[in-house]
Amino acid sequence: MGKLRAAITGIHAWVPEYRLTNHELSKMVDTSDEWIMQRVGIKERRILKGEGLGSSDMGFEAVKGLLEKTGTAPEEIDLLICATVTPDMLFPATANIISDKAGIKNAFSFDINAACSGFLFALQTAASYVETGKYRKVIVVGTDKMSSITDYTDRTQCPLFGDGAGAVLLEPTTGEYGIMDYIFHTDGSGRKYLHLKAGGSVRPASHETIDAKEHYLYQEGQSVFKFAVVNMADVAAEIMERNNLKSEDIAWLVPHQANLRIIDATGRRMGLPTEKVMINIQNYGNTTTATIPLCIWEYEKRLKKGDILILAAFGGGFTWGSIYLKWAYDPKKMPHNPAQSGTLLK
Ligand code: UT7
Repeated sequence: MGKLRAAITGIHAWVPEYRLTNHELSKMVDTSDEWIMQRVGIKERRILKGEGLGSSDMGFEAVKGLLEKTGTAPEEIDLLICATVTPDMLFPATANIISDKAGIKNAFSFDINAACSGFLFALQTAASYVETGKYRKVIVVGTDKMSSITDYTDRTQCPLFGDGAGAVLLEPTTGEYGIMDYIFHTDGSGRKYLHLKAGGSVRPASHETIDAKEHYLYQEGQSVFKFAVVNMADVAAEIMERNNLKSEDIAWLVPHQANLRIIDATGRRMGLPTEKVMINIQNYGNTTTATIPLCIWEYEKRLKKGDILILAAFGGGFTWGSIYLKWAYDPKKMPHNPAQSGTLLK
């Protein structure tokens, strides 16, 4: 038998209904549609409203839809990994809560925190389990309620982020599909530019931390921009070179959606025309761990079996990386469930 690879065999996403537009933001802080579109490229973002709702609720919706779409019973899932920076609570893991809500009873689950690179790190971790042959159905979900850590009186932060969730099903294949290669990096010294100051063990919540607004995301935008624009483009170019991929071989770049200027720079560095770059930042803003599955979900119908995708992200930590994968199914033939027959996807 050939090498086992992990292939994405289904994708689903979920976003809240409420749309926070640039027009509405301009009534809350001193900003404008023109500034936000020119500097970042966001038109609106979704916000999860409602008492008692958190990242697990969005993650659950994405997972529920994924199970329905792929005809998978919750009991069939062996492992669920959740990427998030806005867990429901510090512990237990949001992955456990999603599994409970979705009726996933025969799996173990855990969270990964790699900020905006979280979905990629979680996807590769999940793939490693699938490649052992012991885990046949693994879910990776990225979910973030960024509105819970965004200061809506700070014009330098509040236009940037939105809420949402996306999930994929991974299954083993002996075919030349699935996750082919990855390159990941971290540099913890970058934490000074992008972090959440309080609520952890160093500065537990207190009246003082609340008064100082230390439970909101802190970002030095320009500094992060400089690192992001170079590193995301470099790592995407590096994975192409390492796998002898030319720009014409690549069907799609799937970039983390933090800033349209960073996305454009990455596409240019890879020699790709804009038509080959998945972009939906205008509709959702930066949903942190959900941007990449949200993008693939929206573009799913345009994908073909065998398409080469390069996924790339940069985020807090710093963390950054890239995944090279070959798309494993023809979405036009959905609904499908390759593994229902009990055979490996070929
Ligand atoms: O996903 C995780 C990783 N994060 C990222 O990749 C984000 C990276 N950073 C960025 O995308 C950009 O740095 C931002 C979008 C955050 C900011 O864009 P920028 O072009 O770097 O703007 P800036 O911070 O240099 O600010 C330029 C000017 C400033 O005014 P002065 O000092 O030149 O008078 C800001 O006060 O724009 C002002 N400004 C705004 N004006 C209108 C900042 N925010 C706003 C705003 N509306 N919302």
